[in-house]
Amino acid sequence: MKLVIAIIKPFKLDEVRDELSAIDVQGMTVTEVKGFGRQKGHPEIYRGAEYATMFVPKVKLELVVSDDIVDRVVETIEATAKTGKIGDGKVFVIDVERALRIRTGDSNDSAL
Ligand SMILES: Nc1ncnc2c1ncn2[C@@H]1O[C@H](COP(=O)(O)OP(=O)(O)OP(=O)(O)O)[C@@H](O)[C@H]1O
Ligand SMILES: [Mg+2]
Repeated sequence: MKLVIAIIKPFKLDEVRDELSAIDVQGMTVTEVKGFGRQKGHPEIYRGAEYATMFVPKVKLELVVSDDIVDRVVETIEATAKTGKIGDGKVFVIDVERALRIRTGDSNDSAL
């Protein structure tokens, strides 16, 4: 199992959710976050000028998925969240050791 963490532009959330639902993702957690990347929160780079770092609103998705669909999940997020402009976001993939569905006691892939 893998944990996919994706940080995307908020206006892309509904489309990304719909595309992920269509490829058998069983669940996800969404959080409104703030962050900055290489531009330090500014929409353009102004040569020679120095600006304070700013936070920009983003949405963070967290999905634990089975190993066999993780590549499709990442590709779907990439294809759907991309505008080609700065600030489109990042995807991180992390190994997951254990999962449990509390109601049933199902574990690992069966718990997803
Ligand atoms: N290294 C990082 N670690 C954690 N979060 C990050 C990291 N880089 C970016 N983020 C998060 O992703 C959001 C979007 O980052 P962004 O897409 O601007 O990255 P970038 O490297 O500046 O790429 P681009 O040049 O396309 O803008 C940030 O606001 C922040 O929340
Ligand atoms: Mg950036």
